[in-house]
Amino acid sequence: MVSALRLFTEQEFQEKAQQYSAVLSSRGVHVNVENIDKLNARFLRFNPELALCVDESGLWLCANGMKMQPDWKAEVPRLKRSSLKSEMIARACNLGEKPGLIDATAGLGHDSLLMAHLGADVTLVERNPILFTLLEDSKKQAENDPFLSAVVARIHLVFSDSADYLRLQAEQQHVVDVVYLDPMFPQRDQNQQAIKKQAQVKKQMQLLHLLLPEDGEMDLGDNLLGLAQKIAKRVVVKRPRLAVYLAEQQPDHQWQGDACRFDAYFQHHLLE
Ligand SMILES: C[S@@+](CC[C@H](N)C(=O)[O-])C[C@H]1O[C@@H](n2cnc3c(N)ncnc32)[C@H](O)[C@@H]1O
Repeated sequence: MVSALRLFTEQEFQEKAQQYSAVLSSRGVHVNVENIDKLNARFLRFNPELALCVDESGLWLCANGMKMQPDWKAEVPRLKRSSLKSEMIARACNLGEKPGLIDATAGLGHDSLLMAHLGADVTLVERNPILFTLLEDSKKQAENDPFLSAVVARIHLVFSDSADYLRLQAEQQHVVDVVYLDPMFPQRDQNQQAIKKQAQVKKQMQLLHLLLPEDGEMDLGDNLLGLAQKIAKRVVVKRPRLAVYLAEQQPDHQWQGDACRFDAYFQHHLLE
């Protein structure tokens, strides 16, 4: 749990910052709101530690001179280029059937945004309070966007640990078409050697890795596979191309891409 983070803002956005502070506090994150003169690139460079900031575009995570938010609007050109045929994730999750899908590792919501755009009805579950608050903001902004509003109508956000959420679904005997899992993965391959950092590791992913626990304590999500299999006709796991199987369980089918692959597990007893 992240506590007493600094939250920078300019005078103009003080009130907004206080609102975020209250929301975050209700989710267990305590921030110190700090009024500053100019929230610009120079300021962020001089304050490289992990923090939050609020400006006219809402809440941002910042560190190492960068700031990021999920920014679903920036994904629009990619969404417009995508199709059921061209996207491996669409084949892996059978999106042509317009499935009901639980994304149990929401993160920045980019995969889910694409899946919702291609027809899925998506419930995103995220347990990190800061990421969840960022997601909530992105969804609100997208609701006012002429292209994204129809897409986010198929997106529902849940603030929870997915293990609890999946257990609850099982208790209530709910069955879903797909559970999608993309847990954090250390930058290591199956032989436990560090994979060379790609020159262009996305800034967003860099900040995500700073926010979430690193290697040693990283929760690799192995427990989620068995729980997902209890309620989903199909569980799809996104992995780096060379990564070991989730929970060391061999999938029924794989789709291989250049950087990542999708492992699929079918629950025949749930398939009618
Ligand atoms: C690699 S990111 C997912 C990225 C996402 N697919 C996207 O397109 O942005 C993994 C996310 O899963 C979340 N997560 C991991 N285990 C979780 C759990 N048990 N319950 C809820 N969220 C979890 C982490 O907090 C993190 O935000």
